[in-house]
Amino acid sequence: MASLTPNILARDPHTQIILVGAALILLVGLIFAATFRSSRSKRVDDEDLTTFGSFLRFFYASFLKPHTGDGTVNGQQDALESFYKAQAGVYDATRKRLLRGREDMLGLVAAQLVQKAARERTHDPKRIWVDIGGGTGWNIEAMSEYVDVENFFSSVYLVDFSPSLCEVARKRFTRLGWKNVKVVCQDARTFRLEDHENMQDSGTDIGFALPPSYFSEDSASVGGADLITLSYSLSMIPDFYSVIDSLTSLLDPTGIIGVVDFYVQSIVDLSCRNYTGGVINRHVNWFGRLFWRAWFDVDRVGLEAGRRDYLEYRFGTVLSADSRNVLLGSIPYYVWIGSPKRPSTSSSSNYPHEIVERLDAAATESPYLSPMNHTTALSRTVEKATPPELRSKAYDAAIVNLSANLPLPSFFYQNHHWRIHYDDQLKKHTQFGHEFIYAFTWEDTRVDHRLLKLTSSDVVLAITSAGDNILSYALNSPARIHAVDLNPNQNHLLELKVASFTALPYADVWKLFGQGKHSNFRELLISRLSPHMSSRAFQYWLNNTQVFTSTRGRGLYETGGSRHAIRVIRLLATTLRFSNQIKALLSAKTLNEQREIWATKIRPIIMSRIFSYLVVSQEKFLWAALGVPHNQLAMLEADHLASESISESSAGSTPLGHSEKELNSSRGKAVWEYMVQTLDPVINHSLIGEDNPYYLVCLQGSYSQRCHPDYLQPKSHQKLSRGNAFDGLRIHTDEINEVVSRLTPGTLTVAVVMDSMDWFDPGSAEAERQIEKLNRALKMGGRVLLRSAALTPWYISRFEALGFHGKRVGARIAGACIDRVNMYASCWLLTKIEVVAPSTPRATRPSSVDLESLEI
Ligand SMILES: C[S@@+](CC[C@H](N)C(=O)[O-])C[C@H]1O[C@@H](n2cnc3c(N)ncnc32)[C@H](O)[C@@H]1O
Ligand SMILES: *[C@@H]1O[C@H](CO)[C@@H](O)[C@H](O)[C@H]1NC(C)=O
Ligand SMILES: *[C@@H]1O[C@H](CO)[C@@H](O)[C@H](O)[C@H]1NC(C)=O
Ligand SMILES: *[C@@H]1O[C@H](CO)[C@@H](O)[C@H](O)[C@H]1NC(C)=O
Ligand SMILES: *[C@@H]1O[C@H](CO)[C@@H](O)[C@H](O)[C@H]1NC(C)=O
Ligand SMILES: *[C@@H]1O[C@H](CO)[C@@H](O)[C@H](O)[C@H]1NC(C)=O
Ligand SMILES: *[C@@H]1O[C@H](CO)[C@@H](O)[C@H](O)[C@H]1NC(C)=O
Repeated sequence: MASLTPNILARDPHTQIILVGAALILLVGLIFAATFRSSRSKRVDDEDLTTFGSFLRFFYASFLKPHTGDGTVNGQQDALESFYKAQAGVYDATRKRLLRGREDMLGLVAAQLVQKAARERTHDPKRIWVDIGGGTGWNIEAMSEYVDVENFFSSVYLVDFSPSLCEVARKRFTRLGWKNVKVVCQDARTFRLEDHENMQDSGTDIGFALPPSYFSEDSASVGGADLITLSYSLSMIPDFYSVIDSLTSLLDPTGIIGVVDFYVQSIVDLSCRNYTGGVINRHVNWFGRLFWRAWFDVDRVGLEAGRRDYLEYRFGTVLSADSRNVLLGSIPYYVWIGSPKRPSTSSSSNYPHEIVERLDAAATESPYLSPMNHTTALSRTVEKATPPELRSKAYDAAIVNLSANLPLPSFFYQNHHWRIHYDDQLKKHTQFGHEFIYAFTWEDTRVDHRLLKLTSSDVVLAITSAGDNILSYALNSPARIHAVDLNPNQNHLLELKVASFTALPYADVWKLFGQGKHSNFRELLISRLSPHMSSRAFQYWLNNTQVFTSTRGRGLYETGGSRHAIRVIRLLATTLRFSNQIKALLSAKTLNEQREIWATKIRPIIMSRIFSYLVVSQEKFLWAALGVPHNQLAMLEADHLASESISESSAGSTPLGHSEKELNSSRGKAVWEYMVQTLDPVINHSLIGEDNPYYLVCLQGSYSQRCHPDYLQPKSHQKLSRGNAFDGLRIHTDEINEVVSRLTPGTLTVAVVMDSMDWFDPGSAEAERQIEKLNRALKMGGRVLLRSAALTPWYISRFEALGFHGKRVGARIAGACIDRVNMYASCWLLTKIEVVAPSTPRATRPSSVDLESLEI
C-alpha cells in the first residue's frame, strides 16, 4: 500500500495539486500569522483593507476562484484579468513579502546606472526605463529609494497586459505627480519604443506593426532603453521566447537589464556553461523542483529553467545571485543583471576592439602595456594582424565562441577588468570549499617596502593571500600588479577590498577592514560595491554578509581558516584566566613594560612544553590554523636537528638529509623551539599595541586607530580611492606556475612568492620548473622575494644554478627579528643575472590547465 503513494504522486497531477493546495493553506496561514500584527499597509490604493482581508482576497483569487479565459484571441489578457481583477486593490499589500528580491534588483541596476553616469561624467538627458509586466507600478515607486526617478529618467514606461493593474498604476503616478512615467496597457510582445519616443534611427517604417528584429535578427539594433526590468513577470509570460527576443533590440547597446523571478533548476543543467556568473545556491533539489513547479502551475506561473537559461543565452551576465524566500517556504528566486551580449562601453564606439581589450586583459600576454597603450596596440594588431604574438589565444578562442553565438563568461561584462576568468568547477579550486584561509596577510609590508622600493615602472607578481600586501604595493602605483591565488575565496576577499576602496568613504572602509564589522554591509554591497565586483565575488559576499553584520559574530578577522588560531588563543586566555594580562600587554606603553608582562604573566602559560606538544605539534591543527603544510614542517624540523648536533652539518639543514622518522621524532621539540624563536624576539623588539598590527589582530580580533596595516591609513585611502588606482591590477585564480608561464618573457620586475616555495617536496623537479619559469618571465635584474621556515632553504642552490644570485636579507638568528611578524626563519632576495634557456621548446603549447582558463 505504502508503495502506491509515490505512484499516484507521480502520475496524477490533480493529486499533486490537491496536496500542494493543502500545503499552501498551511503556508498562507503562516504568512498571515507573521504579518497580521504589522500595521496596515500604506500602499493600498483603492481600498483600505486590513492585512487579513488582503490575504483572504489574494488567496481566493489565486487558488480558489476558477480561471477563465483560454485559447481564444485575447486568451492571455482574459486569463490575467480573471486572475488580477479581484485582487488588484490588495496587490501591493500581499506582494510586499511574497515577491522578495525586488528591492535588491532595483538597487543593483540603480548602482550600475549611477556608476555609469559617474564614469561618463556627462549627464545624459535621455535615460529611458522600461518596466515589463510592471503591474501596479510598485517597483517604479520603490526605485525612488535609490535614485530620483522623476529627474534621473527622461521617461519610464510601465508595460502591463492587465487593465485593472494598469489602473492602479495610473492612480499611483497621478498621486505621486510623476509626469515622466507612462503606463502602457499592452502585451509585452508588441511593445516598441519607437511608438512612444522620437528615435533618430528608428526609420520611417512606423506603419509596420512588426518588431524591427523580426526579419533581420542581426540588423543593427534600434535600441534605446537604458534600463529594462522584469520583476516577477517573466514567469507569467507564456510566450517568453518572443518577449526576450524583442528585448534584445529594445535595449540600448550600453544599457542593462534586470530581472528578479522565481525559478527551479538542477545544477546538472549548468555543468557545461561558463557564462552564468557563479552557481552559489543555484541548485534546487528534486523535491523542490517538483513541488514549486506544481504549485505555481495552478497560477499559470512557469518556473521552468528555460526562461532564465534563455535570458542568459541572449544577454551577457553582469551579476547573478540565487536566494530563497524563507517566508514562503524557501522558494528559490534569482536576481540577474545582464547587458547586451556583445560587450561594449560607451567610451568605445567600436565593439570588436572593446571585446579584444577585455579578452587580452584576461590573457595577460602583454602585461607591460598600460591600459591605454594596451588598447591602441591591440587595435593596431587587429587592423594589421601584426605582430602575431600580441594576439592572445584567448582572442582566438573568443572569436570561435562568439561565432558559436554563446555569451562570453561573465567576467567580460564587468565594469572593471580586474578579475580574470577562471573555471570555478575545477577540483583545484573547489578543494577549498567556500572558505578563505587567511583573513589578514601574515607578511610585514614595511620590510617589503624597504627591500623592494617599488616604482611606477615595476611589474609585480604577488600571492594574493588576504590582499593586504597587494593594496600596500598599490600604494606605490607600480605599472601592473598580478595578484595570484589558487583559492578563489582569497581573491573574492581582495575584490571586496578593492571595490570598497573604489566606492566607499574612509569611515566605511575602516569599519569593514579595521574593525571587521559593518551593520550596513548588505546595503553597501548592493548599492555601492556591486558595480565594482565580478559576479562570483558578489555572489560570495551576498551569501556571506553575516561575516560583517552578525551581532553575535566577531567580524571578519574571525573568519577563514586562521580563526582557529585566534579562537585557541582566546579559549586559552579565558580558561587559564590571563585575558586581563593580554589586555595589559596590548596597552603597554614601553617595550620594558611589555617584556615584563610577557615574561612573568603570559609566556609561562602559553609556552608551556605540554601545550606545545599537545596542541601545536598536531600537523592537522597547524595546517588548518596557520597554513603550515607538511613540507614546511619538515624544513623547520631539519633546522632543529641541525642546530642540535654540529656533526650533522655535513648533511646540511635540509629535509633531504634526514629520514622521515628522524624528522617526526623531533617534531614536538622543533615546533616548540620555532615558537620561542618567533615570539620572544617580537615581544622584545616591537610594541604590539602601537606598532605591530599582525599580533594585535590575532590577540584582539580587530585593528585599532593607532595600530593597523598601512593600507588602512586615511592617507592610503586617498590614494587608493582615485578612479584609476587599480587600473593595473589583474587578479588571477590559478597556480603561480600557470600565471608565470603565460607572461611575456622578460617583463616581470618583481615576484613576491611569500613562503610558497617551502610547499614543494624537497628536491622536486616541479620546484625547479617553477624557478625556470620565474627566470623566463623576469626581466634581467628582476627580483624574487621569498620567505622560508628554514634558515637556508634547500631550493636556494637551485635558484643559483638557474640564473639567479641569492642574498639572504633577513635571518632569525640569536634573538634577532627579521620583521614584525618574525614567523619565518629567513627572508631572501634572488636577482636574475642570467637567462637560462627554457628546457622546453619556445613554441610549446600551454598546458591543459592553461587552455582551460583561456578558453571563453
Ligand atoms: C507577478 S506580477 C508582477 C508585477 C510587478 N512587476 C511587481 O513586481 O509587483 C506579473 C505581471 O506581469 C504581467 N504580464 C503577464 N503577461 C504579460 C504580457 N504578455 N505582457 C505584459 N505584461 C504581462 C501581469 O499583468 C502582471 O502584472
Ligand atoms: C604610451 O606609450 C608611449 C611610448 O610609446 C608613452 O610615451 C606614453 O606615456 C604611454 N602612455 C601611457 C598612458 O602609458
Ligand atoms: C570555444 O573555443 C574553444 C577554443 O577554440 C573551443 O575549443 C570550444 O569548443 C569553443 N566552445 C564552443 C561552445 O564553441
Ligand atoms: C552560503 O552561506 C551558507 C550559510 O552561511 C553557508 O553554509 C554556505 O557554505 C555558503 N555558501 C557559499 C558558497 O559561500
Ligand atoms: C611522520 O609523520 C607524518 C604525519 O604525521 C606521517 O604521515 C608519517 O607516516 C610519519 N612517518 C613516520 C616514519 O613515522
Ligand atoms: C630581550 O632583550 C633583553 C634586553 O635587551 C635581552 O636581555 C634578552 O636576551 C632578549 N631576549 C631575547 C629572546 O631576545
Ligand atoms: C567551459 O565549460 C566547458 C564544459 O564544462 C569546459 O570544458 C571548458 O573548459 C570551459 N571553458 C572555460 C573557458 O572555462
